[in-house]
Amino acid sequence: MTIETERNSQAQANPVFMTAKTAICLMAAADISDASAIVRCLGLENHDPLQNMTDPDVVLGNALVVETKYRTMCSLIKDSGCPICVDLPCGYTPKALHLSKAGMRFIGLDLPIVVQEIEPIIRSLAAGSDEISFHGIDATNYESIRTALQNVTGPLCITTEGMMMYFDAHEADTVVSNIRAMLEQHGGLWITPDPEFILQFFYTFRSIFGKDSPAKLAASKETAQQQSDVASLSNPLIVNPDDIIRSTKTAEDFINSHGMKVKKITLAEHIPNLNIYRQLTQEQIRNFKTAMSDCHYWIITLDEQRQPADNAEQQATPFEMNYALENNMFKVSIGGRLDSLTAPQLLTAWEKIKTTSMPVGAEIDCAKLGYITSAGIRVFLILQKALGKNLTLTNVHSSMEKLFIQKGFTVPPLR
Ligand SMILES: C[S@@+](CC[C@H](N)C(=O)[O-])C[C@H]1O[C@@H](n2cnc3c(N)ncnc32)[C@H](O)[C@@H]1O
Repeated sequence: MTIETERNSQAQANPVFMTAKTAICLMAAADISDASAIVRCLGLENHDPLQNMTDPDVVLGNALVVETKYRTMCSLIKDSGCPICVDLPCGYTPKALHLSKAGMRFIGLDLPIVVQEIEPIIRSLAAGSDEISFHGIDATNYESIRTALQNVTGPLCITTEGMMMYFDAHEADTVVSNIRAMLEQHGGLWITPDPEFILQFFYTFRSIFGKDSPAKLAASKETAQQQSDVASLSNPLIVNPDDIIRSTKTAEDFINSHGMKVKKITLAEHIPNLNIYRQLTQEQIRNFKTAMSDCHYWIITLDEQRQPADNAEQQATPFEMNYALENNMFKVSIGGRLDSLTAPQLLTAWEKIKTTSMPVGAEIDCAKLGYITSAGIRVFLILQKALGKNLTLTNVHSSMEKLFIQKGFTVPPLR
């Protein structure tokens, strides 16, 4: 199979990586240094990922949110006192260039499809800085993160910008316990705007577009959902603007249950000067700055007083997959984790089998499947779309049975 097929499999299993292309185009629209150079290297000069945002105001509002996040986060990272930034996920941003110039070490972690593209670009723009490294990982897969950080010592400033909302509750739980494990092993802190990301959008749009903001916000949400193939953009860590007090408590309790504590910093007190102000009126800038008093970024650290709830989820069993075409049936057995790193391999196997002859059905033996994320489910759904009812999942563990049945898969009862 060609590199092209493998890349297609990665893209189909993890469409969320496209949201990072939107982000870098918005950074270029906000004239953030090096963003335009990255956009050119990615071949995105025509800003394709922004094509769905037909209203220029929607681009402006999004660029304002993105520039605010990028510059405020860079400033908080530099003030953190940690010598190393671990950016999870790094996307395509110029943060590596900015922070290495400021004397920090930068470790970019993201899905392999992103890292394969951004690493050579940043290396060409950084002129050989050895303070920068990148690793393809899956945030739900602790083993991949542990391997990426194995030679790292020193307290980490872990940053999570624009990722937590794409996980379901189960995945968010796994990712937060992975971040706790990173802090336990290396020390440091975790900074994230994600819990209040809806509030940041909501208050930003309302402050600059007034009564027109709901329609412009709806257009932004639709773009994020279409690009990521994620329906709800919510989980227990995400604050809901319709129920701020209760959902904030749920999100804090969620962090506490992982043995960590939250300190919130008010955005209005930390936003540096923004380029995008050049595209706003004085009144809009004033309203925006006032509105950001109601929005916070979260600084999360270990809480020595709390033990994390037991996390039995961490499956260290290595991934294995065997497949064959038998009597025109695609027969596969999967062991270990089917996640963002491994699900593309199942899709590539399917593509490979199809080049010999189109199977009439498929049987996936899940006896040794220990853990599945939405990337794995997405690949099962791609097979189901091709085969309809002729896809069967066999030997499904009782912990996954309900989920598979809900998704419409044929799951015969265990014998
Ligand atoms: C909206 S982008 C944000 C990227 C970057 N932080 C920024 O501000 O532009 C979301 C990023 O999350 C990454 N992502 C989503 N799921 C992931 C996972 N399971 N593991 C690692 N990265 C993931 C995507 O690849 C993408 O780069």
